[in-house]
Amino acid sequence: MLPPIHLSTRSHQTADQPISYFMQQAVENPRLISLAAGLVDAESLPAADVQAALADILSSPAHARAALQYGTTHGLAPLREQLLLRTVGLDGLTPAALSLSADDVVITTGSQQLLYLMGELLLDPGDIGIAEAPSYFVYQGTLTSLGARVLSVPMDEEGMDIDALASLLARLERTGEVKRLRMLYICDYFQNPTGRTLSVRRRRQLLDLVKNYSRTQRILILEDAAYRELRYDGPDLPSLKSLDADNSTVILGMTFSKPLAPGLKTGYAILPRDLMTPLLRLKGCHDFGSNNLTQHLIQRLLADGSYDRHVAELCQVYRAKRDAMLEALSEEFDASEVKWTHPDGGMYVWLAFAGGVNTGPDSTLMRAALHEGVLYVPGQFCHVNGANGPVPTHEARLCFGVASVPEIREAIQRLGRAYRSSQAGSRKLPVLTS
Ligand SMILES: Cc1ncc(COP(=O)(O)O)c(C=O)c1O
Repeated sequence: MLPPIHLSTRSHQTADQPISYFMQQAVENPRLISLAAGLVDAESLPAADVQAALADILSSPAHARAALQYGTTHGLAPLREQLLLRTVGLDGLTPAALSLSADDVVITTGSQQLLYLMGELLLDPGDIGIAEAPSYFVYQGTLTSLGARVLSVPMDEEGMDIDALASLLARLERTGEVKRLRMLYICDYFQNPTGRTLSVRRRRQLLDLVKNYSRTQRILILEDAAYRELRYDGPDLPSLKSLDADNSTVILGMTFSKPLAPGLKTGYAILPRDLMTPLLRLKGCHDFGSNNLTQHLIQRLLADGSYDRHVAELCQVYRAKRDAMLEALSEEFDASEVKWTHPDGGMYVWLAFAGGVNTGPDSTLMRAALHEGVLYVPGQFCHVNGANGPVPTHEARLCFGVASVPEIREAIQRLGRAYRSSQAGSRKLPVLTS
């Protein structure tokens, strides 16, 4: 018999991502409509634009050689320049107004790489990261894998509750733990999982509060704006980065996964200048540069206007899907049974059931949902264990990204039937296997 492999402490503290189970269910049960996985709309993926741009790049020998060679750890300079102008442009600003240059931009392998690198860069085991409750479960998993402590702050319709954050910070100061606090993570546009957006008023309060506590060491804010460009209603809001005039506090993470194509797995970040060198050293250990061909491709799609056209089309597609989901929910459920969010963008709707309904993976509702052929993410996966008392078990995340409009309607009807049969409660429902 082979002796066992010795795995590192980090390996032992890294759990399976809960979403893997749900992805697997969707693959195994073709009849199932999954509102669980955060996949994007398949029909609108920009195959023709990508094909044309790639053909263009590869038809020029010089360009092809540049794109097929290794790039730099920092990322393609002209792309970083374009991204900086574009991103500060979303806030109606110039790079100079925020003391930024293209050197403050780094290209990453999706925004997930940024989340991981920031954790690695800032947190030693036992250090503290703060997140919203609920928040993006992959991020929580990332911090736990690094041995960090994740504390959370409740949200309401305006996003993170800043008074609750102020109380938490005051408590950490009283106990002396504030010196272990390194970073606050916030998904401030159409949050994954609730679809909520941080209001302008709270953006300012958040930044003031965090800067105020950065007395002996800087506490950083990781602003994950993955969904910012997918807005279906209302005016855009200023990024936290745009309020960080001295570029001291906010790390802005963006990705092309949602507004363009997740298969490209490319994102970028704008960060405080004194973080860039340590970040590039670490990224050098990970990959010494993200996929270079993809960077050339994105540069082309941005320059020829295809990206902007695509985002505009995508917003139409997702607006229709969101409306279909909200309409089907109001037809299927009574507001006294369940409340749900009305996101202005992004891909998620968050449900909160009343009356002690349990949405967990082993719950009657989940079994009934699988029996009916619909899948959701149990809300408990989006909460940090034990940080704010017991984890709520009555919530669910629905994603309207990948299912078609008719599938969304059908899926919500199935969820309604599942809910009613689970409330009737007596039947034992088998789990779908095919
Ligand atoms: C809030 C948020 N951040 C980051 C990511 C990671 O995406 P990627 O690494 O593909 O950019 C996701 C993916 O769903 C997400 O929802």
